[in-house]
Amino acid sequence: MFGVWDLEVLWNLELGIWSFSTRFHSRNFAALAAMPSVYIKTYGCQMNERDSEAVAAQLVAKGYTLAQSEHVADVILLNTCSVRDLAEQKALNKMENVAAAVRRSRPNVLLGFMGCMAQSRGRELIDRLPDVDLVIGTQKFHRTADYLDDIIAGRLDQVVDVEEESGSEGTVREHLFNGTPAAQSVTAFVSIMQGCNQYCTFCIVPYTRGAERSRTIPDIVAECRELVGRGVKEITLLGQIVTSYGKRWSSSFSLAGDSPSPGTLKPELQQPGKTAFVQLLEAVNEIEGLERIRFTSPHPKGYGDDLVEAYRRLPKLCESAHLPVQSGSNRILKLMHRGYTRERFLGIVEKLRCAKPEMGVTTDIIVGFPGETEADFEETLSLVSEAAFDNAFVFKYSPRKGTPAATLPDPVPEEVIAERHGRLLERVNEIGREKYRRDVGRRVQILVEGPSRKNPARLEGRTRTNKIVVFEGSERHRGQLLDMNVTRSGSFTLYGDPAILNDESETLG
Ligand code: 5AD
Repeated sequence: MFGVWDLEVLWNLELGIWSFSTRFHSRNFAALAAMPSVYIKTYGCQMNERDSEAVAAQLVAKGYTLAQSEHVADVILLNTCSVRDLAEQKALNKMENVAAAVRRSRPNVLLGFMGCMAQSRGRELIDRLPDVDLVIGTQKFHRTADYLDDIIAGRLDQVVDVEEESGSEGTVREHLFNGTPAAQSVTAFVSIMQGCNQYCTFCIVPYTRGAERSRTIPDIVAECRELVGRGVKEITLLGQIVTSYGKRWSSSFSLAGDSPSPGTLKPELQQPGKTAFVQLLEAVNEIEGLERIRFTSPHPKGYGDDLVEAYRRLPKLCESAHLPVQSGSNRILKLMHRGYTRERFLGIVEKLRCAKPEMGVTTDIIVGFPGETEADFEETLSLVSEAAFDNAFVFKYSPRKGTPAATLPDPVPEEVIAERHGRLLERVNEIGREKYRRDVGRRVQILVEGPSRKNPARLEGRTRTNKIVVFEGSERHRGQLLDMNVTRSGSFTLYGDPAILNDESETLG
């Protein structure tokens, strides 16, 4: 086999040493097609989905095509998640398998890790999997195309870039519509900020995503307008904690004659009693042609009266809130550094339902946080009943290296976590079933998104309260706001008939 040995000399920042490594090259990326194809597999949250979309759009703009699977791609990128160990293991196993297959039969395929695990593990990933060519951190997504170019052209060998970059929160901008930048999509995600300053004791995100940095309102509104111009009807504003929007601006941000000091609101956003986030919602609500606004995720402690009030005032803001509670026990909430009590949380849910009785409320819950007793867990069970969530994502606690909770005493045994997880899911499902059943017989408005994921012969859309409705329809319904009569409910799904068709047939018949 032909090949070259490369000697790399690297300054190791963490250890403060020079490191030397060698690797054997038998790969020749210059032989890649003029328009290489790329396959991006995404793990984790909606922010990751959005980052992958932006990277894909940037690559398409540079002439890449999108491959349907890893088996035919010239470039395979895994956009990773670090929030739980399972997500990391999945991506590592995947890369191991992909690398083995590539080594066997397609040696000139380029492999990369992006995102949160890339950020937290950096060079370690290449030491462990030497076939990997690229490790791109969470502030460097926009550099992916350039690095790929450099590797393909032979200017760079392996690349690890996990540096901070000022202004990176404004670089996740490009959108890809159904695989091509020109086609239409009904819904879109818009990243309004990056990073997190909350430092919940269980959570790795502040370490992988960096400090909170917000984009400006004009910048976000311009992106939303562009999307609406391309046919988007519903926009979800994304951020790790969107209710902290505007508390900290990018250090690179300045407007003429205006130099905000870090941690303060820009002068035009200093409206008393109104957070920057609510002002952003107002600005997006003004966009003509946009039908619906959603956002995720807020922090419960950021749910002030101005935000509750916004649901009454802003007609485009959908009646749905994903409010991560994490635990129903005040003792555990304190250990988690969540900044609210069970009572305060339930008070917010009540206020929201008072403002909009139909409000859909979902949550995230962690079971088995260190020291969680049966009594603590029962507090969570009872909170779930009291809050009557429409749905909840239940996670088993996973210790994350470098987080304060990872060194707390009294870990909960795995079998106890599994048992509590099962018990909580049962309660969540029971309550969810009942909440969905209550919609049967009602008329709801949906925005039709496209073929149903469960049954592609049918179509699906979402209610304003964020419930999926499946119905018999045709492609011409895509993008329409339709009134539906809900006829039946299933597992976290509603089934319905378009009200207009019924009314027409009644009139005709
Ligand atoms: N273990 C388990 N679940 C976690 N989450 C965040 N960190 C951890 C962890 N260490 C959950 C939280 C969060 C969701 C995105 O992931 O519930 O809201």
